[in-house]
Amino acid sequence: MLHENLSINAMGHLCIAGADTVSLAKKYGTPLMVMDEQRIRRNLRIYKEAMAKHFGEGSFPAFASKSFSCKYIYRIAREENVGIDIVSSGELYTALEAGFDVSKSFFHGNNKTDFDINYGIDNGVGYFVVDNMTELDAIDRVACEKGIVQKVILRLTPGIDPHTHASIMTGQVDSKFGIAIETGQADEAVKYTLTKKNISLEGFHCHIGSQIFDIKPFCDAGKIMIEYISHLKKELGYEASILNLGGGFGVRYIDAQPELDYEEFIRLISRFIDDEVKSSGIKKPTIVMEPGRSIVADSALTLYTVGGTKEIPGFKSYVSVDGGMPDNPRYALYQADYTVCLASRMNDKADFRCTVAGRCCESGDLLQENVDLPRPQRGDVLAVLVTGAYNYSMASNYNRIPRPAVVGIKDGEDFEIIKRETFADLTRNDL
Ligand code: LLP
Repeated sequence: MLHENLSINAMGHLCIAGADTVSLAKKYGTPLMVMDEQRIRRNLRIYKEAMAKHFGEGSFPAFASKSFSCKYIYRIAREENVGIDIVSSGELYTALEAGFDVSKSFFHGNNKTDFDINYGIDNGVGYFVVDNMTELDAIDRVACEKGIVQKVILRLTPGIDPHTHASIMTGQVDSKFGIAIETGQADEAVKYTLTKKNISLEGFHCHIGSQIFDIKPFCDAGKIMIEYISHLKKELGYEASILNLGGGFGVRYIDAQPELDYEEFIRLISRFIDDEVKSSGIKKPTIVMEPGRSIVADSALTLYTVGGTKEIPGFKSYVSVDGGMPDNPRYALYQADYTVCLASRMNDKADFRCTVAGRCCESGDLLQENVDLPRPQRGDVLAVLVTGAYNYSMASNYNRIPRPAVVGIKDGEDFEIIKRETFADLTRNDL
């Protein structure tokens, strides 16, 4: 099947990490997200090992927790001894609650509020990834008030078009994120940062986008960033000690997409970096990467119960399920590709072409179009595969639909990671 943690058992049911999804749907109810813990750890280890091997000891991945943020995942990050990328005080709070050592965190975002800066400094955040100079002033001011020197790295835009969906492309000069190298603004920002007494400039960051299958833009970005570091050494005598290359490696959602060899990607990027380091004579910085999707996406799937099926003669057929854009807004937002199957009847002939619709009062609430399934019956369990990234973390309560439960599978045992929201949760803050 699509990934090696998926299989079909003797009853013709879809399994993840060997667990029968139909039994899980019965036990926990639907919609239900099921996560394979071994897969998350495996993915983290691929990065850890490949980065140490090719970038050198000291390099490490910082899990981009915007892709899936909850206490469970920060505990895994802690156990696997990786860093994290956080983008809000809420993510930071969750990491702290999980006992994560946030000195290994990178605090991102194009608009860190004064609250975020104070909260981050008070809790010992490792690095602020500074987006602009107004923000740098604010960090410097708060650090001065607290009598500390705060480590930062500057987010730069290397001017790369990574050929991905426009909403998840970030490395180009015209971006709400970062400071452009091309316009000369990065030079100004570095000079300005180096004048700040309560700021220690440790290096630079770039992130070119997400769900990228082509290695070239990553290699180009690595090369441009190292060239830039070398330019700074020549011009200002400043030498960066950290280069954070962001995330963005693509994940296979459908058969037509390749399964990337992340170690090979890392090896190729490192060749570009090493060549540049050698020719420019700078000290090789510690390389950090921030994978999110490629750590959690293929560890999970979402189970739904089929409700109504509707055939509109001369048009198309709809199959409605008991979740939709509140638990997975990615088709509505990006027309994202997903593999959909009937988990309860995996061996039946898939000869019914349909659109899988969510239950919200909104025509755009679709999970996927042009899907071939065995003709679904009310009560069948339907699975959307590869939903571990940017599903739960982007979930909402639209139409006052409670967020689903998330269940983990480890060594053949199932356990709750996040409880299903209750109706009481929905009105908790209503006065
Ligand atoms: N680092 C930074 C600074 C980022 O902005 C992101 C993602 C990452 C790392 C992780 O990228 P990844 O390895 O996951 O591709 N909601 C969209 C994706 C938005 C990505 C935002 N930034 C989606 O559902 O496709």
